[in-house]
Amino acid sequence: MTKRSVPFFDYPRAYLDDRDELLKIIDDVGNRGAFIMQKDLMEFESTLAEYTGASHAIGVANATDGLELSWMALGLRPGDEVIISSHTMLATASAIKTAGGTPVPVEIGEDNLIDPDAIENAINPRTVGIMPTQLNGRTCNMDRIMSIAEKHNFFVVEDAAQALGSRFKGKHAGTFGHAAAISFFPAKVLGCLGDGGGIITNDSNLHDKLFQLHDHGRDVDGNVKSWGRNSRLDNLQAAILNYRISEYDKIIERRRRIATMYDERLRDLDELQLPPAPSTKSDHFDIYQNYELQSDKRDSLKKYLYENRIGTLIQWGGKAVHQWEHLGFTIKLPVVEKFFERCIMLPMNMFVSDDDVNYVCDKIVEFYRK
Ligand SMILES: Cc1ncc(COP(=O)(O)O)c(C=O)c1O
Repeated sequence: MTKRSVPFFDYPRAYLDDRDELLKIIDDVGNRGAFIMQKDLMEFESTLAEYTGASHAIGVANATDGLELSWMALGLRPGDEVIISSHTMLATASAIKTAGGTPVPVEIGEDNLIDPDAIENAINPRTVGIMPTQLNGRTCNMDRIMSIAEKHNFFVVEDAAQALGSRFKGKHAGTFGHAAAISFFPAKVLGCLGDGGGIITNDSNLHDKLFQLHDHGRDVDGNVKSWGRNSRLDNLQAAILNYRISEYDKIIERRRRIATMYDERLRDLDELQLPPAPSTKSDHFDIYQNYELQSDKRDSLKKYLYENRIGTLIQWGGKAVHQWEHLGFTIKLPVVEKFFERCIMLPMNMFVSDDDVNYVCDKIVEFYRK
């Protein structure tokens, strides 16, 4: 009998599990020669807008571009500062930088998301906006963030790369601010077979600018209205996403089920700090892009799980944004730095069976109780 192994994310299965259906889609798109800006993309954009409740959606090459284009469309200028959480992917910060502004990473709160008090403390005359990251499939408490933004007339772009379908008080991640970007990287809850992203917005003027920026300055009728570039979502990827989004609610349900199982099996271990369990009574509807927990013995736990063929991940090379010293940050943020000494993510995806979850939990319990 082969021993059970639970990879952190089994990339070949992102293709192999529905290979027949994917090959049909590739064949259909190929036969039509429908590679760039065809009906599959339009259909996906309208499904994405409808699903999130946004007025507009634009498919882009990846979420990093989506964030950068959003700040460009909002007119970010050199010297302008945008406040972000230091607990995010570097892409959040780099999008501001490449759009011409300055990212200002700040501390996390008890929920490990951007701390509204830290936002307030970082505000100065150069501040023009906030970019909260809706991390691990959880939407920040947007009441406080939006009230700070409204008070100061700031722009808000949400980094919703990890949060399609996540909600706060019933409202979808990505629909609180001026614009948001979502990622369809293969390991995302809605993943395609390569890079892909989407921008959503409720602002029609912003949509027009974003549309031009992502397609060589052309408007929806093909007339050149401004300078732009190419950051389009491939039609083939859009066709694959059309197929996958049709099952999206079932995918979220399964991930919430896995999170519930982890919670039930692990919550009695005082040594662990778990993410909030799915709850219908909460203001938060989480989609569990990741299941990230904290432990003082994180490194030896990771090693023990690895020896038992269980893949785990310490997100983003184990560093907060401001800890990448070559990027010129000189600040210290002790809360988020401590977090990165303790965090670890368990397998959380559609390829993880109930038996896999139980095996992972057995090994974690064994690690603490042996
Ligand atoms: C929080 C966050 N922001 C931005 C990105 C960038 O997304 P993409 O890879 O589509 O550019 C990611 C992707 O992993 C992410 O997790």
